[in-house]
Formats: sequence, C-alpha cells, structure tokens
Amino acid sequence: MSLPPKRPSDSYTEMTQVVLPNDANPLGFILGGTVMHLIDIAGAIACHRHTRTLLVTAAVDGLQFLHPIKIGDLIILQATVTAAYATSIEVEVKVFSEETLTGTRKMTSLAYLTFVAIDSQFKRIGIPPLQLVTDEEKRKAWEADARREARLAAKQKFRASAGALA
Ligand SMILES: CC(C)(COP(=O)(O)OP(=O)(O)OC[C@H]1O[C@@H](n2cnc3c(N)ncnc32)[C@H](O)[C@@H]1OP(=O)(O)O)[C@@H](O)C(=O)NCCC(=O)NCCS
Repeated sequence: MSLPPKRPSDSYTEMTQVVLPNDANPLGFILGGTVMHLIDIAGAIACHRHTRTLLVTAAVDGLQFLHPIKIGDLIILQATVTAAYATSIEVEVKVFSEETLTGTRKMTSLAYLTFVAIDSQFKRIGIPPLQLVTDEEKRKAWEADARREARLAAKQKFRASAGALA
C-alpha cells in the first residue's frame, strides 16, 4: 500500500533554547555533546512528523562547530527533511546562535542525519515519499542521494574493519 506523499514543510521543525551554565564548559561555551544531542532531537522530531513511526538514528555525518555559542545566547535548530527512501529518511539540521541583546545570528553547525523507520518488533517499515516542489527542495534531494551513496559505502568499509577487529 503506497502512503500519501508529504512536503518538507509538513515536518519542518524549529527549536530554540537559551544556553544555561549547566550546558557549558569552563570557558562558558555550550558543550559539543549538548549541541549533538539537540541536533539528534530536532532531526528526530522532523522525521517523526514525516513518518509518524518509531525511528532509530542510523548515521550522523561529519559535524563542524564554526563558532562557539556562549551562556546566555540562544541556540536555534532548524530541521528539514531532505529525502525519503523506502524505509530511511535524511534530515538537514542547521544550528544558529543568537545574541539575546543584539539579535545577531550566526550559523554554527550543519548536520545531516539518517533515521530508519521501524515497528515495535524492530522490523523496517515503509515511509511516505517526499513531495518535492521547489527547485531548492529538488536540489537538496539530489545532494542527499550523493550523501547516501557515500554513507552506505562508508558503512560497508566500517563493517569490514569492525569484522576484522572482532
Ligand atoms: C540502523 C539499523 C536499523 C540499520 O540496520 P541494517 O540491517 O544495517 O539496515 P538495512 O540494510 O536493513 O537498511 C535499512 C535502511 O536503512 C538504510 N541504512 C542503513 N544503515 C545506514 C547508514 N549507516 N546510513 C544511511 N542509511 C542507512 C538503508 O539504506 C536502508 O534504507 P532504505 O530501506 O530506505 O533503502 C541498524 O544498524 C541499527 O539498529 N543500528 C542501531 C541504531 C541505534 O541504536 N541508534 C541510536 C539510538 S536510536
């Protein structure tokens, strides 16, 4: 049974949080691990909104931290589904800092995550296709295909080396 398609805008998710001392390192900057956690959550929410299924995180692509985000700043995460395959889905998460007193915004990270849809027995399940309308949506999906190929090749390589070490 084919599922009705959904637009990227149907699942778009934005999360905003203030950086508190508990989230920070001794320099007063948000911990990288906290940013990674928030990226996982924002990406998962967008993918849940697309699939309305249980999901597991299958892969997180290389992550850069371009600027520190300090205590008192806002951290803003914008998650957009870029591609949906048979049972897996890619989401782009952009991270910004915003100074509360000036409103100055900087993009600090860009992440791509892949989630796999499963049922309660951990069986992979089909997800709705992504309906691409704008040129930007089509470009993002095309780029997602190339990343997926690279990711699956990297997984094969990792599997082979993990097998050799086991
Ligand atoms: C992710 C997981 C379900 C994949 O299982 P698997 O048997 O290797 O995957 P399959 O070969 O059946 O592939 C299922 C789908 O996932 C995709 N996939 C699997 N691993 C992937 C990876 N590393 N990167 C991108 N896509 C991946 C496949 O391309 C396939 O997509 P499609 O059905 O849309 O074509 C499995 O490795 C797992 O459970 N990992 C642990 C997940 C976890 O604990 N995450 C953290 C907490 S949520």
